[in-house]
Amino acid sequence: MNNDDIKILAIETSCDETAAAVVRNGREVLSNVIYTQIALHTEYGGVVPELASRKHVEKINPVIRQALSDAQVTLDDIDAVAVTYGPGLVGPLLVGVNAAKTISWAAGKPLVGVHHIGGHISANYIEHPDLEPPYMCLVVSGGHTHLVEVTDYGKYNIIARTRDDAAGEAFDKVARAIGLGYPGGPKIDKAAREGNPDAMDFPKGKVRDSEYDFSFSGLKSAVLNHLNSCKMQGIEINTADVAASFQKSVVEVLTERSMEALEKIGAQDKSFALAGGVASNTALRTSLEKACAARGIPFYVPSPVYCTDNAAMIGAAAYYDYIAGVRHGYDLNAVPNLPL
Ligand code: KG4
Ligand code: ZN
Repeated sequence: MNNDDIKILAIETSCDETAAAVVRNGREVLSNVIYTQIALHTEYGGVVPELASRKHVEKINPVIRQALSDAQVTLDDIDAVAVTYGPGLVGPLLVGVNAAKTISWAAGKPLVGVHHIGGHISANYIEHPDLEPPYMCLVVSGGHTHLVEVTDYGKYNIIARTRDDAAGEAFDKVARAIGLGYPGGPKIDKAAREGNPDAMDFPKGKVRDSEYDFSFSGLKSAVLNHLNSCKMQGIEINTADVAASFQKSVVEVLTERSMEALEKIGAQDKSFALAGGVASNTALRTSLEKACAARGIPFYVPSPVYCTDNAAMIGAAAYYDYIAGVRHGYDLNAVPNLPL
C-alpha cells in the first residue's frame, strides 16, 4: 500500500457544527467545510441536542458534497471515510456515523471511526509539519480539559483532567451569568480585552489529592458570588473587568499546571501543543507561548479555525489510524462518553 497519497473524507457532527473535509496524508487540507449552528442555538443560550440533530440531518449531505467539490475530488478518489463516533451528543454523533457508514458501504471505501479529542490534538499536524510525537498537549474544549502525553500517533497518556467543569464550560457559564450570552468563550475573550484582569482576585482551583488535575467549579462560584454581592449592594457590574479577571484565573492555572507537569515529568526536551475550542482564546495562546519560550520548549497551536470543531482535524487523526491498519465495521455506533 502506498501511504504517501492517502485522501480521507472526514465527517464531524459531535456537537453543533456540521463539518466535512478532505485531508491528504493527515497534514494537507484539501477542503474544510463547516456549517455552524450557533445562530440556531443562540436564542436558547446553549446547544439544544434535539435541534442540533435535526439540523445535522438537514445539512450533512450538502456539507459533504461541498467538501468533495472544494477538494476537486469524487468518492472514487477517496481512500477512506472517517467519522467522529464519540465523545459528544448521541443524536448529533449518530447523524455523522450513519452518513459515514452509508458512504463507506456505497462507495466501497474503508471506514475509520475517530475519537473527537484525538481529532482536536491532531489539528496540530495540519499546519506544523515538524510536529511529531512524543509531545505534551493541553486539550481545552467545551466538554474536556485534559493534559495529555502524546507518546505516539493516536497513543495518549492522560496526565491530568478536570474534576468538574471543562474550561470551555466555565467560559460559557460565566458568560451567561454576566449577560454575554452564547457562545461564551469568544464573547469573554473579546470583553476581556477592554477590562482590567487585576480588578478581582478570583481563586485558582486546586485539587487536594492531585498535583496537576484542574477544577473550575470554585472559580465559577466565586464569580457568581461576586455578581450576587454587587447586586445586593446595588453596585453596577463591570462586565469587562469580571471577564478579564475570570479569564486571567483560567489562563494562569492552565499555564502553571501545564508547565509544572512538563518540568516534573521530565519532558523538557519535548514539545508542547495546545488544542480544542478554548485554544482559540487569545490570552491563553499568548500565555502558553511565552511560558514555553521562557523554557526553550517548542510551542504549537492550530489556527483558530482548526481549534473549534471541524472535520479537517478528524481527517488528520484518521490518517495515522488508517496507516496503522485501523478499520471499523458497519456495527460502528455513536459512543457519547468514549474514553480517550
Ligand atoms: O472544541 P469545541 O469547539 O467543542 C467541544 O468539543 O466542546 O469547544 C467549544 C468551547 C466552548 O465552550 C467555547 O465557549 C470555547 O470552546 N471557546 C472559547 C473561545 N472560542 C471557543 N473559549 C475561550 N476563548 C475563545 N476565544
Ligand atoms: Zn470539540
